[in-house]
Amino acid sequence: MNRKEFLKTCGFGCLASLVGVSMLESCSSSQVLTKEIKGSDILVPIVDFEIQSEGKTDYKKYVIVQNEILQYPICVYRFSTTEYSALLMKCTHQGAELQVFGDKLQCPAHGSEFNNKGDIESGPAQGDLRKFPIIIENNTLKISLK
Ligand code: FES
Repeated sequence: MNRKEFLKTCGFGCLASLVGVSMLESCSSSQVLTKEIKGSDILVPIVDFEIQSEGKTDYKKYVIVQNEILQYPICVYRFSTTEYSALLMKCTHQGAELQVFGDKLQCPAHGSEFNNKGDIESGPAQGDLRKFPIIIENNTLKISLK
């Protein structure tokens, strides 16, 4: 392979990986929503979990909600029409912001893992995540931040 061929091959490789990374980012960011806070509740319309495709409705497993006054985002898991969990994405070890991988939240700092109900599954963290009470009213989740 001469220099020109090498650069051409590498160039396509780099381009492919850049496209891959940006596609991954757009996937993950599509689930992060900025939501209104009213009183002490952050409001998440249930429709935010819906995915319409070919005339049928599917549901996202979770959405991540944020608001400028929140220091950490909140991950809201959907289990059924009436069952949800709202978890502060703050590691109980040293406070790093967690990342969501399907049904788990993982800490990028030292590797702690929590399940979708906020329970600790592996350390070094020892405590469960902060869980917020949820009331459903008018097809909206009212997540109490008190
Ligand atoms: S801050 Fe999360 S495991 Fe250490």
